[in-house]
Amino acid sequence: IYNTSIEGSILVANEIAQLIKDKQKENQNCILGLATGSSPIKVYEELVRQHKEEGLSFSNVITFNLDEYYPMEKNNIQSYHYFMHEHLFNHVNILPENIHVPDGTIDSENLYQYCIDYEMKIKSYGGLDFQLLGIGRTGHIGFNEPGSHINSGTRIITLDHITRVDAAPSFIGIDNVPRKAITMGIGTIKNAKRIVLMAWGANKSKIIQETIEGEISSLVPATYLQQHNNTSFILDEEASSDLT
Ligand code: F6R
Repeated sequence: IYNTSIEGSILVANEIAQLIKDKQKENQNCILGLATGSSPIKVYEELVRQHKEEGLSFSNVITFNLDEYYPMEKNNIQSYHYFMHEHLFNHVNILPENIHVPDGTIDSENLYQYCIDYEMKIKSYGGLDFQLLGIGRTGHIGFNEPGSHINSGTRIITLDHITRVDAAPSFIGIDNVPRKAITMGIGTIKNAKRIVLMAWGANKSKIIQETIEGEISSLVPATYLQQHNNTSFILDEEASSDLT
């Protein structure tokens, strides 16, 4: 628990930067699972700063994003593809072929196979070394909404009403928020060797309390993280205020 989200974000960025450097020393790729939304913005800002000012290189980094709205054009400013380029990829030396964000333009008839291929691609790199997460008020990680199975893989999912309400301001009204998304599964996330979930602000305090202190249940998919043996929650004071 940190006083501010800035302190917590810098700590997380430092852990990611160290992992990238350690892998470089071993001549290995660093496989990162990445999140969008407001929670990781300062982490990306700090990684960009370290690239520009301290020479942190992303040449060995391979990324897989958690999710993307469906349907969604890549150049739409609400897309997660756009978000990631805006906040990270456009400002560091990552190779374009090493970037993977679920494609919101895939035809519905090819979607099932596309999701299997996304899953297989992660496996082909030996799995995720590090997965960065935020948490939704429904308890979703990625877009694994309540009801998600513990062994779920990458798939198309229907977004919870609360998730669409929370996304409404950036879409200028709930009617414009897509009803579906492609998301890595709980199983995909749980296979990561290291997981860091960040939550900032008072509106996350209730779901953080349920996630950490509640019973493991598909009704709060983030509770599945209790069974992962290398997960940390990085919180600010407000997000931790309902913990007993
Ligand atoms: C985003 C994602 C979501 C968000 C969550 C919290 O890629 O997978 O699970 O992390 O909805 O969003 P913010 O950070 O905007 O509160």
